[in-house]
Amino acid sequence: MNTQPDAHAFGPARNLACRECGQTYDLGPRYACELCFGPLEVAYEFAGVTRESIAAGPRNIWRYRGLLPVSDRIAEIPSIEPGCTRLVRADGLAHALGMRSLWLKDDTGNPTHSFKDRVVAVALAAARELGFKVLACPSTGNLANAVAAASARGGIRSVVLVPHDLEHQKITMTAVYGGTLFAVEGNYDDVNRLASELAGEYEDWAFANVNVRPYYAEGSKTLGYEIAEQLGWRLPDQIVVPVASGSQLTKIDKSFGELTKLGLVDDKPYKVFAAQATGCSPVAQAYKAGLDIVQPVRPDTIAKSLAIGNPADGPYVLDIARRTGGAVEDVDDAEIVEAIQLLARTEGIFAETAGGVTIAVLKKLLEAGAIDPEADTTAIVSGDGLKTLDAVSDVARPAATIEPSVEAFRSVSSKVGVS
Ligand SMILES: Cc1ncc(COP(=O)(O)O)c(C=O)c1O
Repeated sequence: MNTQPDAHAFGPARNLACRECGQTYDLGPRYACELCFGPLEVAYEFAGVTRESIAAGPRNIWRYRGLLPVSDRIAEIPSIEPGCTRLVRADGLAHALGMRSLWLKDDTGNPTHSFKDRVVAVALAAARELGFKVLACPSTGNLANAVAAASARGGIRSVVLVPHDLEHQKITMTAVYGGTLFAVEGNYDDVNRLASELAGEYEDWAFANVNVRPYYAEGSKTLGYEIAEQLGWRLPDQIVVPVASGSQLTKIDKSFGELTKLGLVDDKPYKVFAAQATGCSPVAQAYKAGLDIVQPVRPDTIAKSLAIGNPADGPYVLDIARRTGGAVEDVDDAEIVEAIQLLARTEGIFAETAGGVTIAVLKKLLEAGAIDPEADTTAIVSGDGLKTLDAVSDVARPAATIEPSVEAFRSVSSKVGVS
């Protein structure tokens, strides 16, 4: 591996810094602080990034390359070109929930239908610059899809490890791209432990969310940049974000801070709300108990993509929710299914279970008075319902099965509400 990357390989990134003690390190394949074992993140010196320079960029996440740890030439390298997904004005859902102004960031429109394409694109760029030969990951499903697809397009081998009982759509959608897929007998936290051990052994493998995690995580900042740009260069008053490891949420917050510091948006307060499934809600439990530490749990929920019992960024999510005046809330499986249907029926967007968690938490926090129905709100729909069909297959069914005749149609039409 190349431990001395060239000076332009990571664009504006200057070093890695410990999120706990601030110790800095040269850019390289590191992810934990040698002094305190805290997580490392990318630190930058930004220069020359303006609204105009961003607008002149491609219609994908590389328009924000001046704010990411990637080379200036990244847009010329084959990638699956994630990003620039729709920000949908959701008047139908807003009306149903009694809100004035609601926007949905619809990340189902990414190449493998989840926000994970954003983080993988940045992880793959870092893996190349650092000289790794294989892109690998432990995954709750969506990351597996994104790693397999991005590796196929990028011409690098992929090795993916997932819990064996994942939704079969996600398993098929990973295997089809031709990498190597391991179904592991255990839950995500077991798979993640195994990946950490393998990362120590297979030195030319870049594990997207393990040994190149600092770079990978930065890809989620593009969600925040896009939301601000699509709102006409302003920040929402409130944002609701689903949480598994918590990285997506912490990086959206980081992106809002960067945009403000660079003067690309006005400095204004915003509240961050975190959404979890009750069957895997270690951060919500810590929040409700008033704790700063997050106790690991054993996941049991239909929201498998959010089923991380020991979330790496949990304490940072707690801090951001409290600091911004937001909250962390959880919803049970029935509420998740109901919210998937509500979103589909009001907006024509079919979300996976993680999206159901986000919309159900939005509803619950509105009812509790924690989310202001009058304030501008954005909710993240991070993955596509086609990946988690089983969650709604019992409640989304044909009204009737009939013979192909008008009589047969007439005999049931009034019963099913068409007459
Ligand atoms: C669809 C979807 N939404 C949200 C998340 C949560 O992301 P994070 O681990 O960054 O909190 C995941 C994680 O896999 C996911 O697949």
